[in-house]
Amino acid sequence: MKKNQMVHVSLFLAHVLLLISLHGASGKDYISAVGDPGMRRDELRVALEAWNFCNEVGAEAPGMGSPRAADCFNLTSSSLRHGVSEDDNKLGVGTPFPGISQGALNNVDLYAAEKELYLGSLCQVSDSPKPWQFWMVMLKNGNFDTKSGLCPANGKKAAPFSPGKFPCFGSGCMNQPIVNHQETELLDGDTMRGSFSGSYDLGSDLSNGNGGADGISFYEVVWQKKLGVGSWVFRHKLKTSKKYPWLMLYLRADATQGYSGGYHYDTRGMLKTLPESPNFKVRLTLDIKQGGGPKSQFYLIDIGSCWKNNGQPCNGDVLTDVTRYTEMIINPETPAWCSPTGLGNCPPYHITPDDRKIYRNDTANFPYSAYHYYCAPGNAKHLEQPVSTCDPYSNPQAQEIMQLLPHPIWAEYGYPTKQGQGWVGDARTWELDVGALSSRLYFYQDPGTTPARRIWGSVDVGTEIFVSDKDEVAEWTLSDFDVIFTPKKE
Ligand SMILES: *[C@@H]1O[C@H](CO)[C@@H](O)[C@H](O)[C@H]1NC(C)=O
Ligand SMILES: *[C@@H]1O[C@H](CO)[C@@H](O)[C@H](O)[C@H]1NC(C)=O
Repeated sequence: MKKNQMVHVSLFLAHVLLLISLHGASGKDYISAVGDPGMRRDELRVALEAWNFCNEVGAEAPGMGSPRAADCFNLTSSSLRHGVSEDDNKLGVGTPFPGISQGALNNVDLYAAEKELYLGSLCQVSDSPKPWQFWMVMLKNGNFDTKSGLCPANGKKAAPFSPGKFPCFGSGCMNQPIVNHQETELLDGDTMRGSFSGSYDLGSDLSNGNGGADGISFYEVVWQKKLGVGSWVFRHKLKTSKKYPWLMLYLRADATQGYSGGYHYDTRGMLKTLPESPNFKVRLTLDIKQGGGPKSQFYLIDIGSCWKNNGQPCNGDVLTDVTRYTEMIINPETPAWCSPTGLGNCPPYHITPDDRKIYRNDTANFPYSAYHYYCAPGNAKHLEQPVSTCDPYSNPQAQEIMQLLPHPIWAEYGYPTKQGQGWVGDARTWELDVGALSSRLYFYQDPGTTPARRIWGSVDVGTEIFVSDKDEVAEWTLSDFDVIFTPKKE
């Protein structure tokens, strides 16, 4: 070999080594926890679920079937081949489908849970370490007819009680929505688009297509993507009305099996690996066009899990399972209820990034304005006073909720540090260290028990318009959604 050839070869080797190490440093140490990293897969899988006040069905909307639907397709050379038919989407209680159990056939709540599994089987994509099924659009109606006796209190069957505490216009107020589905189509040869839309006002005419009719509730999720390019963009719209003043609309990455946040049935979803604190991050692009008014609790981001007060994982026993939520509300109109004079709305302590504990009675140091509201599980036995306990009715079991606000102390985790960041007119791509942040938040546990593993079965983005006194509209797009983690070194 001549000398200049040798130089060439070693330069070439140096180049290869450089490439390998750059590759390592530039993100290949990350693994995605979702089946569709960054929403870039052309062959989309998306589903819809609708919940009543306590995360059940209660009653199906006439002609709509059970409130579970999906849109999943493969690409052939020039067309979309759909795996879910409109007949599948319209399946309703009493109509059997492959795999349904006897007990579920005539029970609206169990029927919906098993329909989700069935739709999942039609959408499932083989993958490692597990197959996955779909992104999940979740809708929830916050009306609660307290005379119906439909919702348990902290998981215990509860007697009906007189109205006043919750919104409800009268019997039937807990209804499921109209669901219109526009199956994903290929337009102009290179753009794919589909949608779910509808209203809670049964019988309302949505044919004008804008959903903006006065006094009528409305929701819409439109997904669109250019073939082979970039991310799906999910455009969401949610409108409240006098009859439906409390509505929720989220896009969720849920567990592919087991429980997902707030859901006490076996679920299907997108998280083929369950993220565990402290080791995971969430990437996404969010562009909020309309905020939804002062009561719109827009979550960047909400994570949900379930563990018992003794730290053990949930097992479906609604009397001892507890849903846990961590959510940052980015609507700048949301005040901090936690304050030196409202200690019962604060967690007992805050933990700094360098692991110092600051008690809430330390008025010189506790970051009150970083916390909107903390509420403890209603079935906890050893709570520190003063304390607020969470609403006992709005989940199938007790719940614990930690609601944060943008604040400089969250800078370490890549979260919004100032009111207004990420809000209307400030579209951004975020990389949130959700795992590290959620590892340092307070959650209730019985004294002397082993700390729970914080494994999250749901990661979602969207808004909860919380009892608005006028019709409000929220509108936003979400894209590039990913949940990533660094694998454990072997
Ligand atoms: C889509 O492709 C997957 C994997 O090849 C296959 O299992 C599934 O049956 C296909 N679905 C349709 C509707 O073609
Ligand atoms: C503050 O709260 C902590 C924990 O509850 C308690 O141990 C401490 O005595 C309190 N300090 C004051 C000054 O009240």
